Amino acid sequence: MKYSDITKLKILAQDKISRSANPAIVRNSTVFFKSMQELLDKEKIVKKGSKVNFYEYGRAGSQTTIALQNFITELELAHATFLTSTGFSAVALAIMSMCRPGDEIIVTDSVYAPTRMITSNLLKQFNVKTHFYNPTSLKTLESKINNKTKMIFVENPGSNTFEFQDLSKIIKLAKKRKIITAIDNTWGTPFFIKPLKLGFDMSISSGTKYFSGHSDVMLGSLSVNKKVYEKVRFCNKLLGFRASPDDSYLVLRGLRTLDIRLKKHEESTKKIINFLKKENKIKEILYPYKKGTENYENWKRYYSGSTGLFSVFIYSRNRNSILKFIDSLKLFGIGQSWGGFESLVLYQSYNIQRVYKKYIKTNHHIVRFHIGLEDPNELIADLKQALKKIK
Ligand SMILES: Cc1ncc(COP(=O)(O)O)c(C=O)c1O
Repeated sequence: MKYSDITKLKILAQDKISRSANPAIVRNSTVFFKSMQELLDKEKIVKKGSKVNFYEYGRAGSQTTIALQNFITELELAHATFLTSTGFSAVALAIMSMCRPGDEIIVTDSVYAPTRMITSNLLKQFNVKTHFYNPTSLKTLESKINNKTKMIFVENPGSNTFEFQDLSKIIKLAKKRKIITAIDNTWGTPFFIKPLKLGFDMSISSGTKYFSGHSDVMLGSLSVNKKVYEKVRFCNKLLGFRASPDDSYLVLRGLRTLDIRLKKHEESTKKIINFLKKENKIKEILYPYKKGTENYENWKRYYSGSTGLFSVFIYSRNRNSILKFIDSLKLFGIGQSWGGFESLVLYQSYNIQRVYKKYIKTNHHIVRFHIGLEDPNELIADLKQALKKIK
């Protein structure tokens, strides 16, 4: 019988061997084999990409990390999943598996800033050229494609400015030219969108965010199709990427409630946006809520839900008063990351590293919010009192 994702999230981590509702935490380095032949056969199985139930050495994983790999593979409808110690290293693994000297990569201009640094800085040192494209104009993407293009790296929506792109069009452009596609899908998670089913070759999630949901773990996942599996496996093995069994357990535990948490994040965020859109100090809300806009239509076309991370533009000639607004919020923590149970806020300098400066508007400041699982009416009351500080 085929199960829905809601049911899968509840049953995928059951441990059939120990008969426990939860998998065991297996910490390992050495793994024992019955014979030398068994050890040699193991390596062949992993090479084929067949499902494994144990690895030959702890660097490759343990029963706990395998349980998480298999869980995410099911959720992503993938051929296989690789786990890394942070979301960022999953981005690095995807890119470094594919790009070689002389290749070119095309990247969303509003990509997560450290991803920008890997491509435009580190890859440059390996003679891989990066082009950035404007996520609101796919013509700029098309114009960068040439016979050296190896990969298109998409982040959807873009970091801080939250542009939603026409994903199928990107895949079509890439497939025509045999270009590998990867997407950073941390915002939407495979619960709201299945990038590999759409046609992407690679789907990345920072498990630090919604997968874990409790702000107590760092982990990355890279799910891939059959076409790119061998290249990623090779690079993953040689670079020694790995997620710890303890962190993998915490993510398995978090995933059980992914659906419930995401729905609550979405419901509360919509309530807060309804409040913010009536506030005249808020000039624009960067969230897919306005029917007829490109962002809304592209979101609706590809996602079955929306999450709790968005930005607003606030107009003010007094930057300090925006900082005061942020400092006056009592229920929103000031800190990096998102996707946990708690509400967060950050002032974002969004234009420093962009090629396409569409968003530069004098005296418009971007404040990014993550709406957590607190009572949304109390979050609104908090925002109301803090907004008074903006001059
Ligand atoms: C869109 C996106 N991708 C990747 C990452 C990196 O994840 P991690 O913090 O787990 O390294 C982040 C972190 O904020 C992110 O926002």
